[in-house]
Amino acid sequence: MNVPFNYLPQQFADPEPYIAEWRNLAASSEFTIGPFVEAFEAKFARYVGARHCVSTNNGTDALILALKSVGIGPGDEVITVCNTFYATAGAIAAAGAKPVFVDCDDRFQIDTGKIPAAVTPKTRAILPVHWAGASPDMDRIMTIAAAHGLLVVEDACPAVGAYVNNRHAGTFGNVGAFSMHPLKPLNVMGDGGMVVTDDGGLAEWMRKYRNHGMVDRNHIEFWGVNMRLQPFQAIVGSRVLDTVADLVRARNANATQLDAGLKTLPEFARAPERRAGHLEAFQLYLACFQQRDELLPFLISQGIEAKVHYPIPLHLQQAARDLGYKRGDFPVAERQADELITLPVHQFIGPEQIDFVIETIRAFYAD
Ligand SMILES: Cc1ncc(COP(=O)(O)O)c(C=O)c1O
Repeated sequence: MNVPFNYLPQQFADPEPYIAEWRNLAASSEFTIGPFVEAFEAKFARYVGARHCVSTNNGTDALILALKSVGIGPGDEVITVCNTFYATAGAIAAAGAKPVFVDCDDRFQIDTGKIPAAVTPKTRAILPVHWAGASPDMDRIMTIAAAHGLLVVEDACPAVGAYVNNRHAGTFGNVGAFSMHPLKPLNVMGDGGMVVTDDGGLAEWMRKYRNHGMVDRNHIEFWGVNMRLQPFQAIVGSRVLDTVADLVRARNANATQLDAGLKTLPEFARAPERRAGHLEAFQLYLACFQQRDELLPFLISQGIEAKVHYPIPLHLQQAARDLGYKRGDFPVAERQADELITLPVHQFIGPEQIDFVIETIRAFYAD
């Protein structure tokens, strides 16, 4: 049986509805921002429950824009987690600031208990990541930020469709950034990003900065850049957004089945605790396994497209060499990097395939 990780061939098997709308776009010539992009921004803001939404080229730009909008720059430190995608720390560096890492917890989320010790006089912000489409303890993070007078910039890139107590990921802090990369819950046919905020002043600044600092065709207020979302991607994103609640439901059904299956193998496998009040978007399904390095190729040999996100935490990457970290600094993330496997969980697989995954894992340990 085949259990693919990539669901894009199924998701976009019928491109006709998109092509039909692209014809309208072609006829309109509205190729830079314009009504297609603005309508999608308004729809996304409504969806997540934020006052303002500014679209960007991709999630990395969304993070850079979010950080710069609140004034993060050279000399500043930004606290984030060490088990995340490269772009989290890359965006902090691109804004001119220094990433300061803390370890994660057993849920693969930033360990909020370790944040206060990472605060220094240079700390300006906490940048929590909604890693894998799950959420850290946002209430605790907001409390810590308030106690230390820090900004909160959320990396909700993998987390469209994720909620904590009915509040959407990315709407807790001053600004939240999202990605629409093809393997995110809300995806487009290429790259796209979103920033949300309730602060009208920040939104206005971001709208200008992502468009050269322009106030009109002949005037710029400050030096900006081009981070604009392509209108043809806004059309894709707008259609896919209508399906997010359903696909998150389907992923949760698969995840619940995987969790139950792994619970029957407690000596070999450990899925993270699922918190009451948290709705996870399951961009990825992560769990830790004994003998990971033998199990992973075995799963792949059986047709299960398992992966590892990621085998090297950020503090041990060459890019972090000047930050002064060493192996042993973040033991939880380092152990997880050696033990975790990402299993397919997407909406185009169902109970039979999940059973096959569980039975294949069981067979591996039975040998
Ligand atoms: C946690 C996290 N942050 C940032 C990004 C960057 O998003 P993008 O690939 O759209 O630039 C991603 C995904 O790629 C991500 O998973």
